[in-house]
Amino acid sequence: MQVVFVSLIAISSETLYHQGMQLEKKLRYSYQEFLRSVHALLKPETYLEIGVRDGSSLCLSSCASIGVDPRFNISKELNDNVRLFEMTSDTFFEERAKETFLANTKLDMAFIDGLHLSEFAFRDFLNVLHYSKEDTLIILDDIIPSSIEITAREKLRGGWTGDVYKVARLLKTLSPQMEFCAVDTKPSGLMLITGAHASDLIELSKNSEGLQERLKGHEFSYASLDELRQNLLPQSIDHAKKYLARKYSSGSLKGQ
Ligand SMILES: C[S@@+](CC[C@H](N)C(=O)[O-])C[C@H]1O[C@@H](n2cnc3c(N)ncnc32)[C@H](O)[C@@H]1O
Repeated sequence: MQVVFVSLIAISSETLYHQGMQLEKKLRYSYQEFLRSVHALLKPETYLEIGVRDGSSLCLSSCASIGVDPRFNISKELNDNVRLFEMTSDTFFEERAKETFLANTKLDMAFIDGLHLSEFAFRDFLNVLHYSKEDTLIILDDIIPSSIEITAREKLRGGWTGDVYKVARLLKTLSPQMEFCAVDTKPSGLMLITGAHASDLIELSKNSEGLQERLKGHEFSYASLDELRQNLLPQSIDHAKKYLARKYSSGSLKGQ
């Protein structure tokens, strides 16, 4: 009787451990689950990803895609229509972008997840804007850090977000005509940005150097994570999916 009792405990703790791991995985990867839904919903025809690493997010794309990263470590299967550029995003935009579909086609969707320093993410955003139309969906990663420590400007091992969150604040402050939706994905949130006009590109580019300097300082920081959340008002994943479904319900991505 005693033996049976012990083995029951063993089974149930193993089951609990397994369930815990599943939940942990689900939480940890929820941004990828969200991105999967976005691809399914928008069915973009053109996609750009800055910061690819092993391809975990790029593999979600089934359309003509470009991936840029100075150090690929691809372990996922990518669709046949993906072009990879092993270089920094700055070099890609300066030297190679024009030899891709970007020479004559605007982006339907872009995911910015490269170097986690605000001035780099801001430059990535400006470069993406250059190839965007009004209904392009631009997604910025790492805008809701889980602690102040991981926002350091010195690179940390593990879950480092750097100070990318400042870019979201800068854009909300300087380009209020764009539409923003922060999403509470694990591990560090996403910002959905639509409605960018050519005038935004002109205005932001005109002041680009000065804005990059300002980003390095404290002007776009928050006093606390509470203040950050109050400013960004992150939405649940379900809410964000409904928001996108409403926004793109007419299939407005197609044919532009
Ligand atoms: C967080 S990982 C990307 C993860 C990937 N998007 C995903 O979700 O699976 C960030 C990547 O940015 C790349 N990176 C670093 N500096 C970069 C730069 N200047 N331009 C583009 N990518 C850069 C790194 O090599 C790294 O692979």
